[in-house]
Amino acid sequence: MSIYYNSESCTFFLDGKNLTYAMKVSESGYLAHLYFGAPIAHDDLGSGRITGRDAIPTSMPGQDSPKYNYTHYLPELSFFGTGDFREPAIQIQNPLGDRLCDLLYRSHEILPKKPAITGMPSLDGGETLVIHLADLACGFGADLYYTVYDDASVITRRASFVNLSKEPKRLTRAYSFSLGLAGNDYDILSLYGGWSAERNLERTPLHHGVFSIDSKRGSSSSTLNPFMALLPEGTTEEHGNAYGVNLVYSSSFVLKAEGLPSGDTLLTGGVQDFDFCWKLDPGESFEAPEVVIAYSDKGIGGMSRAFHDAYRNHLIPKKAVRASRPIVINNWEATSFSFDLEKLKAIADGISGTGVDTFVLDDGWFSNHREDEYSGMGDWFPNDQKLGGSLKNIIDFVHARGMKFGIWFEPESCNEDSETYRTHPDYAIGHPDRPRCYSRHEFLMDLTRKEVREYIADAINGILRDYEIDYVKWDFNRSVTDMYSIGRDSERQAEFAHRYALGLYDLCDRIIGANPDVFFEGCASGGARFDPAMLFYFPQIWTSDNTDADARTRIQYGTSLAYPLSSMSCHVSSPHDGNPTATKTRADIAHLGATGYELDSSEFTDEDRATAKEHIIEYKKMEELVLLGDLYRLDDPFGSNFFSFLLVSKDKSRAHLTLYRKSYREPAETKRVRFCGLDPQKLYEIEGRETPLHGSTLMNRGLMLSLPAHDCATVTCHLTEIYQ
Ligand code: DGJ
Repeated sequence: MSIYYNSESCTFFLDGKNLTYAMKVSESGYLAHLYFGAPIAHDDLGSGRITGRDAIPTSMPGQDSPKYNYTHYLPELSFFGTGDFREPAIQIQNPLGDRLCDLLYRSHEILPKKPAITGMPSLDGGETLVIHLADLACGFGADLYYTVYDDASVITRRASFVNLSKEPKRLTRAYSFSLGLAGNDYDILSLYGGWSAERNLERTPLHHGVFSIDSKRGSSSSTLNPFMALLPEGTTEEHGNAYGVNLVYSSSFVLKAEGLPSGDTLLTGGVQDFDFCWKLDPGESFEAPEVVIAYSDKGIGGMSRAFHDAYRNHLIPKKAVRASRPIVINNWEATSFSFDLEKLKAIADGISGTGVDTFVLDDGWFSNHREDEYSGMGDWFPNDQKLGGSLKNIIDFVHARGMKFGIWFEPESCNEDSETYRTHPDYAIGHPDRPRCYSRHEFLMDLTRKEVREYIADAINGILRDYEIDYVKWDFNRSVTDMYSIGRDSERQAEFAHRYALGLYDLCDRIIGANPDVFFEGCASGGARFDPAMLFYFPQIWTSDNTDADARTRIQYGTSLAYPLSSMSCHVSSPHDGNPTATKTRADIAHLGATGYELDSSEFTDEDRATAKEHIIEYKKMEELVLLGDLYRLDDPFGSNFFSFLLVSKDKSRAHLTLYRKSYREPAETKRVRFCGLDPQKLYEIEGRETPLHGSTLMNRGLMLSLPAHDCATVTCHLTEIYQ
């Protein structure tokens, strides 16, 4: 990994793992994108004029020459008002009311270590290039940060904007990046969805003009994930170039791809600028969130593996990356709000001894009247009556059975019918003269205010201090509405959505940071806030409230586009109505992530217990591959009757395949699977078969696998290298 600057040609080269990124200070002083993609010769990039075309070129300010027009280059940060008509990444309002901006290169530096962003999560990293741009006429600066890695085919970028003038300015757009891509023959791949059906794949051709995905919900949301990939026509799962972007951000966002008239493409995005205006007082800075940009010449799968490597090596809390994850039993699907101490004990007892090592008590344990969604939220004290006298009873019971104890919170919410709301109605987000929107009968707490964050953190840290709690599930069950805070004056109200994210990160620091020995899992009605910023705090996130194995093949497939399997909590649940999926299938699909159980184990028979034990032994055999392996998606459940995930260890000595067939149609009892990513020379023992096979055979001739003769059937296959 290295960053070079050629002072003769004023060209920057960033060489990362299997990628080159290059840009240049143009003759007129603008920072021009040259190239991003597979490594290519530096010599071919630095020299020569930057070319492009426009029907009626507009010159750069004060440069009446056809040589100096913006369409002659792709910008590293696009801006509006002075001749560039492409999608801007930044828009400012100056004190005179003009929106003119003209950012020129001033200087650069190469830092030995990647600086963290103040108040926001980001990947760690080493050598980092910072390029300082400025518009001296209006007193405005932009610092662009670039980091490359030798263990992941990604670069990270971000921007910091500073008011260098003596008067306030307003940012009406403050995206994180502009990224040029050569050519415009791309398809766009994005992830859309909703509650219980998160992260479906959608592939659409890029057109001339701007394609955009976004969230206006104050959360990254399950509607559209802050992820987008650009795939040249013909790129498939394992072949061709793939470029992906993923924002390290949890609030309203936007990502755009613009097919330019020049024949190239410009990507941009960051904080949602609809309903956004940020006041920058003199000397103040605005930090835009980080974007992770992945490149692979091994198709969509290679791009996903690049993101997975980056997140495991540089984002997810270090101590969780290699360690066994808790295998939980969660009571939610078994009881909802209706439980008492005896029921909880029976659930814990029913599954104890199977290998499940953590009992998680979900919603309904707190306040004196949390019997449904209408009341009690925000009152973080145990309902002693419901818990048979004390929360300690169930904790001690669970600990005595050798299991850890986990508990559920929804720190950001309150019910109108709660002590918290009655005492502090102003702590809920909303306008004092308007009725608020309810969602799941809840309001959200105004995390933009420090005193509100302190109140929540004190309450939750108090519980974590007073009881022996090993695990926390942090839920979040609605979108942000009524964006008004009594804590800000009128000219700062349009800062709300971003300030909510900053408040959330601060709250995570206050609670997660204060409890280093507690394992924190993220959740947002399932996967409605599944983004890299959350992975900075939560090593795993409850992927979806939909635990049906068939639905999960699609949800987990879509989620894996950007996020590693270890980040997905996947539980075995009871068969869903109308879909009597086999227990083995449910376990096999739930094993493709941080596994656990979400069912009424108080009704377990000895046979159920023995089955669960057997399944957990199977999981333990593949656990390291789930945590650290390379993922190959061999069958796509969106476009076929099959789903398959193959996990291969980095040293290629082990692999695990899970193949799922949705609908049983005779005579389709068998399927030939061609493996990927193995070492062609290595000889592999195939569990359950007598004859070992070489990687070359498994990848070319493949292996014929038989599936049970029913719908929603799975077969798994474990490979281990035979050392010769
Ligand atoms: C939504 C979560 O996704 C569920 O797992 C459960 O925790 C409920 N909230 C509880 O209200």
